[in-house]
Amino acid sequence: MKQIIGGNWKMNGSRLASLEFLREMKRLGSEYASSDIVLFPPFTLLPLMTDAAADAGIETGGQDVFWLEKGAFTGEISPAMLVDAGASWFIAGHSERRHVIGETDEIVRRKLETGLETGLRGILCVGELIEEREAGKTEEVVRRQVQSALEGLDCVSPENFVIAYEPVWAIGTGLTATPDEADRMHSLIREWVAAIKSNDFADNTRIQYGGSVKPDNAAEILSRPSINGALVGGASLKPESFMDIIKAVPLQE
Ligand code: 13P
Repeated sequence: MKQIIGGNWKMNGSRLASLEFLREMKRLGSEYASSDIVLFPPFTLLPLMTDAAADAGIETGGQDVFWLEKGAFTGEISPAMLVDAGASWFIAGHSERRHVIGETDEIVRRKLETGLETGLRGILCVGELIEEREAGKTEEVVRRQVQSALEGLDCVSPENFVIAYEPVWAIGTGLTATPDEADRMHSLIREWVAAIKSNDFADNTRIQYGGSVKPDNAAEILSRPSINGALVGGASLKPESFMDIIKAVPLQE
């Protein structure tokens, strides 16, 4: 299965720096031909970046999306607007949207559905808070997030959909789940997806890991068969470190 490496820039980046980043990515190499690479810059940079990104073999996506097509929703961006800005992907349910902005499972589900119905491909983020982990609720929480996003969702397929398991306590903290812990959660997520959809669907769905993925831990994480890529925050802001992570993807036979 082809791995997918995402770079989530969060609220970072500028017009000048983003074009320089893409020039440098192009210069650094063609080694990433075996993975899908997607950058998620702030909305404002999407139209500027899309052509230069394509030239470097990189797709772009929105960090979030609204669940309706148009109307009186001040500040929101619709899926059609993302398409118009050149994006081919979106993220639904990033932990910063769930826990800083207060998005519920229901909101995440509506975003995922509308984005996919518009023809975009979507990354669903799931993951537990440190309190939930310490209370032994990791499985309950992540299972609920997966179920509420996927149950009864007809427009989803392994081609237009990726799951990112991002334990919230590992995001931006320098802490990561051990490869064994991540492996275990990825296998459980795949089981839950199989129960909701089918074995075939689950076997073909890519599940990325996210949370403090860096050049020095990427190879160990990405070599696990249950882990099909990474969603990278901080280390995606510099072309050298992002490229080092991309190069850590094991070569496909
Ligand atoms: P960091 O890689 O900075 O921990 O961020 C992970 C993340 O939130 C990606 O979506």
